[in-house]
Parts: sequence; C-alpha cells; structure tokens
Amino acid sequence: MRTLIEADEIERGVARLAAELNERYAGGSLTVLGVMTGSLMLLADLVRKLEMPLRVGVIQASSYRGTTEPGELRLSLDAMPDVVDQEVLLVDDIFDTGRTIDRLTEVVAARGARSVRSAVLLLKRGRSRVTRTPDFRVFEIPDEFVVGYGLDHRDRYRNLPYVAVLEPSDLDAEGTG
Ligand code: IMP
Ligand code: MG
Repeated sequence: MRTLIEADEIERGVARLAAELNERYAGGSLTVLGVMTGSLMLLADLVRKLEMPLRVGVIQASSYRGTTEPGELRLSLDAMPDVVDQEVLLVDDIFDTGRTIDRLTEVVAARGARSVRSAVLLLKRGRSRVTRTPDFRVFEIPDEFVVGYGLDHRDRYRNLPYVAVLEPSDLDAEGTG
C-alpha cells in the first residue's frame, strides 16, 4: 500500500472545507447528510468545525460489491431526517463515477429540500459519468483505487487515518480474510 494523503494533510484539507462552508452558509442553517459508510470520518471531523445551526443525518448507499468496479447503486433512506425546506449538504468520501451523488441529489431534492449541494473528500479524475460535479471537494486524485479515512475495500481499511492506494498486489495478499 502506498500513502497518497497523510493524516495531517487531510486535517488541513477538512479545515479548509469547513471554512468555505462556514462562509457559504453564514447566517443560515444547514442539514448535513453523510453518505454511509464511507463518509464516517469526514462527517465526524467536518461537523465539529461547522459554526451555523446544524442538523446531522445519514443516508445509506452502496455500489461496491466486493470488487473495485462499481455495481448497482443501492440506497436506503430509512435513517434520513425530514429535509423539507432545508438547506442540505450531502457529504461523501469520494466522487468517482458520480452516480451516487447524482442520484442522491435528485432524491433529496424530490423530498422538498430548499437546496441540495455536495461535498466530498476526494474527486477521482477522469471517471465521472454524470454532468453534475460536487460543489465542494477537498482533494483531486488520479484514477486509482484508494482506501483509508472511511474508504474501504470489502469493508476493510476504513480506520486508517490516511488515504492510501490499494495496489493489485495488496488485493492478492488480502485473500478472503
Ligand atoms: P460513484 O457513485 O461512482 O461516484 O462512487 C461513489 C462511491 O463508490 C463512494 O461513496 C465510495 O464508497 C465508492 N468508491 C469509489 N471509488 C472508490 C475507491 O477508490 N476506493 C473505495 N471506495 C470507492
Ligand atoms: Mg460510499
């Protein structure tokens, strides 16, 4: 595994994002919806730096089915709070093909949100298959499969405090365990 973004770089990046959001939403209030499970770390670090009146909720989405290629997108909105007339910010770990953020933006808007924007830790270059782009992003990365700071491969590596590239040899070594 090769470290791509060190923990202290992430911390500074999240602080920059928080400052941008504090400015953008100054004087208003915000409902932050974390896309589970990948946004867990960013969500926890980010909301503690936000200064406006804030609500926090989660949405469950998954598109990775044990491989590094996206499969069918599954959404579960059971845990989502009421968003009618709210300013909503979707928070996710990464914008890859963009389908997750694209679909969730439509779904949340359809539930009556006043505005729906999105913030991601990572934007993967050259992968997008939608016209929408995230409104806020912390880092742009090359087209490689990454893990750590919430990002997983088969639900592993989420706890790493840094972001690392998972190389083909790591996948071989991982086996089924
Ligand atoms: P998208 O819908 O293709 O933009 O994919 C977004 C979701 O796919 C993210 O929320 C991640 O859970 C997952 N994903 C995309 N790229 C990676 C990666 O490089 N490592 C781990 N998960 C990824
Ligand atoms: Mg995800």
